[in-house]
Amino acid sequence: MKDVVIRSSGRYLPEKVFTNDHFARFLDTSDEWIQERTGIRERRFAAPEERNSDMGTKAAQQCLERAGVDASEVDLIICATVTGDRIFPATANFIQENLGNRTAWAFDVNAACGGFIYALSLAYGMLASGVNRRALVIGSEKMTSILDFTDRSTCVLFGDGAGAVLLEAVEPADNPEGYGLRNFVLGADGSLAYKLWQPDGGSVNPPNPDSLARHGHYIHMSGREVYVNAVRTMNAIVEDVIAQAGLTPEQIDWFVPHQANKRIIDSVRERLKMPEERFVVNIDRYGNTTSGTIPIGIDELYTENKLATGQHVVLMTFGAGFTWGAVYLKWGDPLAAG
Ligand code: UT7
Repeated sequence: MKDVVIRSSGRYLPEKVFTNDHFARFLDTSDEWIQERTGIRERRFAAPEERNSDMGTKAAQQCLERAGVDASEVDLIICATVTGDRIFPATANFIQENLGNRTAWAFDVNAACGGFIYALSLAYGMLASGVNRRALVIGSEKMTSILDFTDRSTCVLFGDGAGAVLLEAVEPADNPEGYGLRNFVLGADGSLAYKLWQPDGGSVNPPNPDSLARHGHYIHMSGREVYVNAVRTMNAIVEDVIAQAGLTPEQIDWFVPHQANKRIIDSVRERLKMPEERFVVNIDRYGNTTSGTIPIGIDELYTENKLATGQHVVLMTFGAGFTWGAVYLKWGDPLAAG
């Protein structure tokens, strides 16, 4: 088995900012309600002509530039998304084209907010087994394409954006400190699939006038039920992955949680008795970017030089499916020059 390290990260957020007051102009909502119930102050929405693959490409390009790796040297490209450019082919294929890579195998992972952790775990498997050497793992979403702007209980929650990481396999002998991705907790419960979903638009109900009239091709969510399950599951998986790593919560330097609701993040943090400073939060500025939240969070730590070699990092998520996952990694890059 090889070790697998994160070489670099990247992110892209669309330029246009929409504050909560924007929604109060056409919906029965308020900045106060949104901030208090979710922690969101503003979010970014992509321009109509801006594709999901454009955002994913920009995040991936940043990764490659920062690692000094040419796109042609990547063997595997996975894009986690539920708002791909097309039903098929995969958005990862369009990103591959944009990057100028013509050989990597490339596909999308549809696991909603669990998507990035699922994709990261799959890429880990391919690299650790020695099948591939380098992988780009991207989480990219154009949530505005499936938001119902007449439904105040969902449309205020989400935003558009993308994040990416470049993974590389290293020989354990060249990585004596054991840097990289180390422990994984993954799961799903399909019996709760209908609690957060896009009912129409697939083969059960292809787009048709009826589905358009009932807004079936937009997000539908039983918010409370998702909330309760999210808190319970995130608590369990974060404790599980830390125990698997043989560590205690106090030893974790950074937690990068999925950003669905600041209150969910706070209740996980409070249960672990952790200070706010150890939790990455970007929901206030970007809303819930679904599979984008975690790689965007990693990139914030990375570009703000907050990640020190040897630090312990936990990523965790919960989302539609229901899907969930947590990953423990030891930050460090034995391949970095100098
Ligand atoms: O990323 C994937 C996973 N997603 C999640 O984890 C989301 C989980 N759920 C949540 O974050 C929360 O449940 C929400 C933020 C969606 C809702 O917060 P809540 O505290 O659970 O509110 P609620 O659904 O219980 O609704 C309370 C009230 C309702 O009014 P009534 O029935 O009490 O009169 C809603 O209609 O708040 C109302 N409401 C709103 N009011 C003003 C719902 N959305 C809004 C809104 N503005 N935007």
